Amino acid sequence: MDPAEPDQPHVPAPTIGPVGFAIGVVVILVGLIVNPVWISTIGVVIAVIFAFVWARESTSELRGRRAAVEPEVRPAEAEPAAAAEATASPDSAERFPRSKFLEASTLGLGAVIGGVVTVPVAGFAVLPAFLGQKRHEVDLGPVSEITEGQWYIATFMTDPAEGETSRRTAFIRNNGSVKSGSTQVPSFTIISNRCAHLGCPVQANGPTGAILGLKDVVEVTKNGKITMTPTVPAGFGCPCHGGQYDTEGNRTAGPPVRALDRYSFDIRNGRLTLLSTFSVSQVDGTGAQAQIHAYKLAGPGQHVDGLEQILYPLQPPHH
Ligand code: FES
Repeated sequence: MDPAEPDQPHVPAPTIGPVGFAIGVVVILVGLIVNPVWISTIGVVIAVIFAFVWARESTSELRGRRAAVEPEVRPAEAEPAAAAEATASPDSAERFPRSKFLEASTLGLGAVIGGVVTVPVAGFAVLPAFLGQKRHEVDLGPVSEITEGQWYIATFMTDPAEGETSRRTAFIRNNGSVKSGSTQVPSFTIISNRCAHLGCPVQANGPTGAILGLKDVVEVTKNGKITMTPTVPAGFGCPCHGGQYDTEGNRTAGPPVRALDRYSFDIRNGRLTLLSTFSVSQVDGTGAQAQIHAYKLAGPGQHVDGLEQILYPLQPPHH
């Protein structure tokens, strides 16, 4: 040991490569949720740059040692140097120690195998939840078939191409018309039956169909067979954990964290058309006079207002 050197253990110098690489991976993952095209691309660029920096830092010691054993060769010294090289096999072996080579190749091979195995699996598992989610409009048939003031349990397919797996249920009431500016516009209450706790199918608390002596309204539209069963609900209830809602979808008991989601709608050529779904914190008032506190669609169990919403800053899209 060089007596001029202090007797201290060798510790690796702090590096920014791993930190930057980790930040890049985090940006990629956040981008998958927020904006897969732009933010994920930025994350890939960051990860690649810092992976390069990391690789440079990891091999700097090796490259430094190599430079030390390969001093610049002047022409006058070339011949003696060549002669020395021919007899300096122990030093040459030191230039590329086998342990370093094995360490680097093991790490590199592990990284390649890990990437080949995990990236496609993660992509197939995660990306479909964020990409290519189409919003399907649903034609529920003529408004004239929906009796004013009557509740219906409507079942319909959001995408006939997907078949019964796309079948959904909504509770629908025709509230008549309501004044909007100088005109009267149709008013409907259309509530999703997806429980705001964990997503179980909520049911109408009350008699339905034949018990009431009322027939189902059945329509065949471009969305396949639509069935609307009359009901007289006192509210809506979830069979899974006892969540209860009133007829505006406000939570009245149990574990749900907000009101039931709703469908936006349009009247096209006299036909009721369901558009997208949105989430609701609560509803003030009832029927055509209801004030709906609407939010972007959130998942079951997610708060959309209050302090708790900060627990769910990023939400993937939902059907
Ligand atoms: S899923 Fe509805 S109460 Fe739990």
